[in-house]
Amino acid sequence: MSGKAQVALITGTSSGFGRLIAETLARKKFHAFATMRNTKTRNAASARELEQLARREALNLQVLELDVTQDASVEQAVAEILAQTGRIDVLLNNAGSGIMDLSETVTLAQAQRQLDVNFFGVQRMNRAVLPAMKRQGSGLLLHVSSGAGRLAIPGMGMYCASKFAMEALAETYRYELASQGIDSVILEPGAYATPIADKLEAGEDAGRRAGYGEMAQVPERILQMIRSSRANPQEIADKVLQIIETPAGQRKLRYRVGPGGPGVERINTLTDEVQAQLLEAFGISAAAKFKVPDTRGERD
Ligand SMILES: NC(=O)c1ccc[n+]([C@@H]2O[C@H](COP(=O)([O-])OP(=O)(O)OC[C@H]3O[C@@H](n4cnc5c(N)ncnc54)[C@H](OP(=O)(O)O)[C@@H]3O)[C@@H](O)[C@H]2O)c1
Repeated sequence: MSGKAQVALITGTSSGFGRLIAETLARKKFHAFATMRNTKTRNAASARELEQLARREALNLQVLELDVTQDASVEQAVAEILAQTGRIDVLLNNAGSGIMDLSETVTLAQAQRQLDVNFFGVQRMNRAVLPAMKRQGSGLLLHVSSGAGRLAIPGMGMYCASKFAMEALAETYRYELASQGIDSVILEPGAYATPIADKLEAGEDAGRRAGYGEMAQVPERILQMIRSSRANPQEIADKVLQIIETPAGQRKLRYRVGPGGPGVERINTLTDEVQAQLLEAFGISAAAKFKVPDTRGERD
């Protein structure tokens, strides 16, 4: 694309990473569509703040209503963007929610709601933008996962399950879309003290905590750890920009950013090797354009 601003659709921009990503991309001359649910009610103040920022700094930043769990809401927002711009270059799957409690306390309805945001929401979004990206012959699906998308953390069973599921989906999109010039990338933040810490839900069946002894305290301990993180959430917005600016086809599948030990990187490196063998065995390495990245000397 030459000359025209790249178009980015970001989900979940009422707070946290999403808001910073929207601001960062708009300041870098993207046409940024900052989407959020409840723009007229609970998130009206957030929507107004972003709109005021756009006016103050003369940014190409527009707020749109989008609830990732609602087909009609997703379709309407994507149609509006395409009507205005005719294209979508980047989809930032950032919207997310979490349950923090022992798995047994989580009712089925609650577990389904968790998956509806963090997993089905991603599939809904990807399906909504892919026809446009395929017409363009280019695009980037960027998925905000988590270290919890690679590690099983007690007290975060449903959240981990939803992010593991998202990772599997994002990785298969990577291989399936490679020959169409569309990249699928996963970003795995460590713990950051964003507003998510105040939004995490407890299990709806608290009685099931009985008998867990010390383990029943674990969710609260993890929550305190997230709240006490000193890491700056702007790091995530900066990494998103860096990933977008990396030329198509040269982006890694996974980027790990922020606090946490080296374990996730080790899992990612090993997974690349095992996936390479799998794709080779199926005879689809070329179609999936898969190369094991050379990570020697790399710092992120
Ligand atoms: N903070 C961390 O330590 C951390 C670490 C790893 C990964 N992550 C991931 O990073 C992403 C952003 O989280 P954050 O830390 O920035 O927390 P946050 O400030 O709570 O942001 C989450 C955003 O997702 C939105 N959202 C939730 N359900 C939605 C729905 N159905 N439709 C549309 N938007 C919805 C929230 O909107 P409402 O305000 O309306 O709820 C909010 O704007 C999430 O995917 C999270 O899982 C966070």
